[in-house]
Amino acid sequence: MSKTLKTLGKSTIDRRALLRGGLAAGATLAGTGAAQAAGKAAAAADPESLPPNVPDWSRYLGAGVADAPYGVPSEHEAHVIRRNVEWLTATTESSINFTPIHELDGFVTPNGLCFERHHGGVAEIAPGDHRLMIHGLVERPLIFTMEDLMRFPQESRFFFLECAANGGMEWRGAQLNGCQFTHGMVHCVQYSGVSLKTLFNEAGLKPKAGWILPEGADAAGLTRSIPIEKALDDCMLAYSMNGERLRPEQGYPLRLVVPGWEGNMWVKWIRRIEVGDMPWHTREETSKYPALMADGRARQFTWVMEAKSVITSPSPEKPMNHKGPNLIKGLAWSGRGSIKRVDVSVDGGRNWQSAELQGPVLPKCLTRFTLPWSWDGDARLLQSRAIDDTGYVQPTMEALQQVRGTNSIYHNNSIQTWLINASGGVENVRLA
Ligand code: MTE
Ligand code: CO
Repeated sequence: MSKTLKTLGKSTIDRRALLRGGLAAGATLAGTGAAQAAGKAAAAADPESLPPNVPDWSRYLGAGVADAPYGVPSEHEAHVIRRNVEWLTATTESSINFTPIHELDGFVTPNGLCFERHHGGVAEIAPGDHRLMIHGLVERPLIFTMEDLMRFPQESRFFFLECAANGGMEWRGAQLNGCQFTHGMVHCVQYSGVSLKTLFNEAGLKPKAGWILPEGADAAGLTRSIPIEKALDDCMLAYSMNGERLRPEQGYPLRLVVPGWEGNMWVKWIRRIEVGDMPWHTREETSKYPALMADGRARQFTWVMEAKSVITSPSPEKPMNHKGPNLIKGLAWSGRGSIKRVDVSVDGGRNWQSAELQGPVLPKCLTRFTLPWSWDGDARLLQSRAIDDTGYVQPTMEALQQVRGTNSIYHNNSIQTWLINASGGVENVRLA
């Protein structure tokens, strides 16, 4: 086989091989494997296809319009996928995978890359069979079909969702060597749906209504207590994300959106909302999500995801390949509002300079920051620190541990340190 063919993707190869006259050649080439070809593509560029020559792929017709009725990414991007850590959980049904944040640009997460967290697997629900019930302290208990919900006034808003356990493995020391694994339990999409306020206007809240209890239709039947003030402020029931219907793993056909608050409260496959006058103290909010403090007591109801940031490149998955001009890229977010500023340090937190924020900078959303940086080839300690519009500054782990001790798992929003070695490799480290 020719060198040129080896560097091409599989579907292209099949078609080209046929053009060049030989099914046999096509069969052999197809066996080289797309991933292998993708990996070699950059290094093995064929001089015959480089400028000033006309590249090979300009000499034949490409795929027609019906080739992929629902588009998929280029096969050369096959490494950009959600990943899980097998030893973290006993089964995949009650588990987590991680968004490949180190591979993304901007602030929107593509639907197929949004991390998943299920306690009982993905519920399989046909929208025609789904109902949402609102009952309890309301004037008119109601049951809605999906079609009913879609006839209400619609809103479309961007929000990040972060699992309270994001970074949970890192409390006592640097553990997972990859920014996908240390920070990837976060995604940010545009949700379309109906606000809870609109639905509660329809049902009529009784004067004593103080809390709501959303419940999922999955095998876990997840339930959480949410104060009515938050429900009426900015919570919504979403049926779409990034313009298309929710993915099954994100709660199809209906999920609760609780902007800025811990992911666990964003009940997926939502089937029921009870209105009451007190919190229910469910399993999730008593035995699972409270934060265990140093003195053995626990903090309950830790809802807000505080300001946080991470440098996504360079990172363990994105080593430094070039001395001289480079671009530091990262993400920042705050459950209390907008990101005001992100500082970056290349000397382990001694000196800081402000990064550029890529607009739009939206409240309770991921915010992309960048900073041009010239690397001299020496070992460096990279950090980022987010500041939100309440003035809150992302803390060091030392500062967090002074308040919360070392028993915690959830709500780790501490400053991350990446060590860049002189060789350009990047490692997750903890500064003493
Ligand atoms: N809702 C139901 N019904 N069942 C679940 O297991 N997991 C929760 C929450 N909502 C869960 C759920 C947790 S812990 C998180 S972090 C988010 O959903 C994850 O949402 P995602 O899978 O869309 O990323
Ligand atoms: Co979670």
